[in-house]
Amino acid sequence: MAEQTSSQQYVGKLAVFYSGQGDSLPFQQLAERLAVPLHQSLSSDSAEEFFLTWRDGCLKLLDCRACSRQARGIHTIHGDKELLKKGGLAVDIEPRNGEQRSWPAPKDGALAQALGRKTRTVVDATTGWGQDSLHIFRMGYELICIERSPVMAELLADGFNRLAQLDWMQRLNLESPRLLQGNAIELLADLESRPDCIYLDPMFPPKRKKSALAKKSMMVLRDLLGDDQDKEQLFEAALQAAGKRVVVKSPDYAEPLGGKPSQSFQGKLLRYDVYLKG
Ligand SMILES: C[S@@+](CC[C@H](N)C(=O)[O-])C[C@H]1O[C@@H](n2cnc3c(N)ncnc32)[C@H](O)[C@@H]1O
Repeated sequence: MAEQTSSQQYVGKLAVFYSGQGDSLPFQQLAERLAVPLHQSLSSDSAEEFFLTWRDGCLKLLDCRACSRQARGIHTIHGDKELLKKGGLAVDIEPRNGEQRSWPAPKDGALAQALGRKTRTVVDATTGWGQDSLHIFRMGYELICIERSPVMAELLADGFNRLAQLDWMQRLNLESPRLLQGNAIELLADLESRPDCIYLDPMFPPKRKKSALAKKSMMVLRDLLGDDQDKEQLFEAALQAAGKRVVVKSPDYAEPLGGKPSQSFQGKLLRYDVYLKG
């Protein structure tokens, strides 16, 4: 993947959409921060394929490659139905299916096993849509999140703000995880303290061009950002910076990122490879 720290990468691909309702200032400021245009319509002849907009109280990413047939903005796409039925993808702050709705949720399942029983502090160096981060956070680990894509960082910041406002978060006096925007290969070297565990879930090339099993949100992420081609360097940086272990989430068909892992835990169509520091 080309270096993703600059928002110049989005020119011609992404714009901010303001529907004409409410204060336009946050939309203008978002467009300026990302150095992308601000549009007031989603006409099918606009060059951009992706749009960011606030809808239903969240910042959403609209994939408009699929919406020229209908009036843009009220389309639905198969998959991630809950997120898309009102149009657009946002960081989902609700617990995943099967996850217990308590805080801290029990540390069970393959992810918790991989993070390790003695782990207290975790850095998620590839936060993406924040789904693994939020799972880790809800299990009660102390968490810092890193994301290099400025667009994903905006979506995450919006999700983490919504999280902070939830009743249970306020009742328990909890703060959302800290979010750092930038390249983890550099940021990991500058952390104030060594985390017990660094968690990596970089983008691997898909086995097939379009996997029917891939979630819409992950397909959009790949289309917007591309595969992470510097994952070996990221792994090396994580190994240097971690206190006790590095955990790499991989599709089950991919070779282990750092060679033979110390341990592996099998999830559904994926694997958590654990590299313990000696
Ligand atoms: C497959 S997604 C992660 C999905 C995430 N685990 C989730 O649950 O939503 C990979 C993400 O890692 C980010 N990323 C990849 N390499 C990175 C790096 N060196 N520094 C920071 N972020 C990185 C990408 O921009 C992308 O958003």
